[in-house]
Amino acid sequence: MDRILIRGGNRLTGDIRISGAKNAVLTLMPCALLADAPLTLENLPRLADVDTFMHLLNQLGATTTLSGGANGGAGRRMTIDAARIASTVAPYDIVRKMRASILVLGPLVARAGEATVSMPGGCAIGNRPVDLHLKALEALGARIELAAGYVKAIAPEGGLRGATISFPTVSVGATENALMAASLARGETVIENAAREPEIVDLAHCLIAMGAEIEGVGSDTLTVHGKDRLHGATYSVMPDRIEAGSYACAAAITGGDIALHGARHGDLAAVLAGLHQAGLHIEENDDTIRVAADGPLRPVTLSTAPFPGFPTDMQAQFMAMLARADGASLLTETIFENRYMHVPELARMGADIEVRGRSAVVKGVDRLYGAQVMATDLRASMSLILAALAAEGESQVLRVYHLDRGYERLEEKLSRVGADIERASED
Ligand code: UD1
Repeated sequence: MDRILIRGGNRLTGDIRISGAKNAVLTLMPCALLADAPLTLENLPRLADVDTFMHLLNQLGATTTLSGGANGGAGRRMTIDAARIASTVAPYDIVRKMRASILVLGPLVARAGEATVSMPGGCAIGNRPVDLHLKALEALGARIELAAGYVKAIAPEGGLRGATISFPTVSVGATENALMAASLARGETVIENAAREPEIVDLAHCLIAMGAEIEGVGSDTLTVHGKDRLHGATYSVMPDRIEAGSYACAAAITGGDIALHGARHGDLAAVLAGLHQAGLHIEENDDTIRVAADGPLRPVTLSTAPFPGFPTDMQAQFMAMLARADGASLLTETIFENRYMHVPELARMGADIEVRGRSAVVKGVDRLYGAQVMATDLRASMSLILAALAAEGESQVLRVYHLDRGYERLEEKLSRVGADIERASED
């Protein structure tokens, strides 16, 4: 197993190109199951989760072809042809590696009339049920059966039919499943209290490129006029706002100055507001955001919330950054109940953090120290990388497979801006 070695203390300066978004590509890939002609996704990031999703689509009978991007991610494409669906079963072996596998449920039941998906595991950041996904499909007429760790959805005679789906709480994944399924349902579907994350907007634009009719894109009410069939399309994956935010924190914690190329400020407004509060200098140009340290970091108070609020996927990275601030910060996690798994590891590097229920008080310290650390999920792992970049001495971050799920060429991108970082085999 690999680990990442970092000798901290370097000030990071220079340019980083932002890759295609993990959370967008994981909802764009299953769109291919809705069409009988190929979907080509451009700006495809090189991530372990993309490979896992590709295997899942292959298992279902879709053919996938990768091309381009020989010199790194940009220009990489995947063409997915799901003209023939050979299986409607997403097995445990794949789903346990990647929770987003649940996103084949809606498209499969809409197109093939049924779908069987192992109940997902995924990141260890709380319970993460899928009840809202199932309620949405039930509203569209599907019958749901649960047995032996699998969920089976069966469409009624004549296929799914449009309905009003009203979510009691905002769910990104359930909105995605509902939107994909409704695109092939008969008649009109209204999705109320829909998630508004930029990745949902990306999904809607891709579906529209495939012939779907969707109104209210970007709002919390989506109206879908179902179609008999969707056609193929070519679609470019949006830039990864969480990757951009993570590297912005790398500039902040090292007192550096990094230009994030391809990052979209509209997607990052809450994160940039938080960085601004922390005293960072921020410049926004057409497709570049420059984040530069400007004196000591200031403490920040913030709560995670659904978009356009501050993303839960940036909470751990902000915590690492604020561990070096000049004063006490207060972070509150409102989306997931168990998302402070990085706190004890950051503490081992010298951070002073006290968790009180859903909140964490982060008292800034003068120094962090290198240590051997590991994390149990993707963004928590990134928080340890950030702390290591600012720490005195050498750190070893274990369980690198979490990082490989969501950060394309992490060591290469960070070493180009001056980090002393390398990957080593654990053996
Ligand atoms: C997606 C993102 C993840 C991000 C999260 C919140 C992907 C692949 N993952 O995850 O990175 O952290 O959005 O922005 O895009 N819930 C239920 N029942 C359900 C579904 C969700 O109770 O059926 C709860 C969850 O436990 C959680 C909250 O709703 O407390 C939000 O979860 P959700 O938005 O669904 O997150 P994901 O789609 O799993």
